[in-house]
Amino acid sequence: MSELNVQIKSKEKSYPIFINNENLENLRTSILTFIKNNNYIIIFSRKVYKIYGKILNFPKDKIFILKDGENEKNKKNLDKILNFALSKKLTRQDYIIAIGGGVVGDISGFAASIYMRGINFIQVPTTLLACTDSSVGGKTAINTDFGKNLIGTFYQPKAVFINVNFLKTLDERQFKSGLGEVVKYGFIEKSCHSNQEFNLINFLVENHDKILSKNILTLMGLIEICINLKISVVGQDEKESGLRKILNLGHTYAHAIETLTKYKKYTHGECVVNGILFALKIAAKLEKIDKEYKFLCEDLINKFEFTHIPNFDINKIIKIMQSDKKATANEIIFILPCSYARVEEEKFTPDTLKEII
Ligand SMILES: NC(=O)c1ccc[n+]([C@@H]2O[C@H](COP(=O)([O-])OP(=O)(O)OC[C@H]3O[C@@H](n4cnc5c(N)ncnc54)[C@H](O)[C@@H]3O)[C@@H](O)[C@H]2O)c1
Repeated sequence: MSELNVQIKSKEKSYPIFINNENLENLRTSILTFIKNNNYIIIFSRKVYKIYGKILNFPKDKIFILKDGENEKNKKNLDKILNFALSKKLTRQDYIIAIGGGVVGDISGFAASIYMRGINFIQVPTTLLACTDSSVGGKTAINTDFGKNLIGTFYQPKAVFINVNFLKTLDERQFKSGLGEVVKYGFIEKSCHSNQEFNLINFLVENHDKILSKNILTLMGLIEICINLKISVVGQDEKESGLRKILNLGHTYAHAIETLTKYKKYTHGECVVNGILFALKIAAKLEKIDKEYKFLCEDLINKFEFTHIPNFDINKIIKIMQSDKKATANEIIFILPCSYARVEEEKFTPDTLKEII
């Protein structure tokens, strides 16, 4: 078991991240001990509840089940979660606990942030993507017809409980989706300004087989590296006024594909990998990176055999990119690779972007 700490500048927002592979039957006790005698509700994703409801054994009257899928991260469900919390008479000392992937984590975190102007929140990530990325850092959101994550808050949890055993039941597609964000950390590592060096790119190359066969200790090591990198970034820039933008490598293009395909066809991680390939292409065309590095990155991505996503009409993509919350009236913002494991921000007008592509 290891415990990492997120150090946000204002101390009251700092929180522990417990990473272990203990028996899942112990998880309920660990959480209840942490929240002491306070009241709580649990938001489960449907699939996770089906598989783990019995083992975790939380009282049924405290459980809200969210249907699966990105489309469930919406206003209607937000309203239902808030009403559920109200019906259970939760006060600000109480807790909303999310058990599931990034979808459950994002919508529950948002609900927690606005319920009585902010109630305690705990993340229990159960997908690789949520374990390595979305459960830490405090970004919460729901989607709208106008685009992804357009309504949300920065709201840090009180604790994150990561138990790697959850990953055993994750299907291959969702597992690889999480690897999409993991690979991203490899390509941004040196820009994270962590005081530790992990060389994640090498780790991914050397442990490729063990990762794909879900070796538990390798996965714990991998999660620790990614979380350490995220902690380093979020600790320096909680609200994305500067450094945190690097976490968006691959995301400008990814969000456009997700919006264009109505969040139904591809997973978030699959779109991120595609977005990284797109960013590598632009970076190479602008001669920010040499051919060797582009090849190394593409080779690593190919090794994990991510789902292939076809090219989309670039005019449609650019139009959606312009409504991204990070874009300004006439500028689309990209995070681009610039040297080994380093990235930097670049802004393009839609016309320049079309020319480059
Ligand atoms: N807040 C952030 O910083 C941040 C960062 C990255 C991504 N995200 C968001 O995360 C979301 C994607 O998260 P995700 O990839 O975890 O998808 P997800 O939450 O949709 O989960 C994927 C599927 O796996 C199932 N599942 C979860 N755990 C399981 C388990 N242990 N065994 C079997 N099935 C399991 C879920 O029920 C769901 O059907 C997107 O909405 C994305 O925008 C947020």
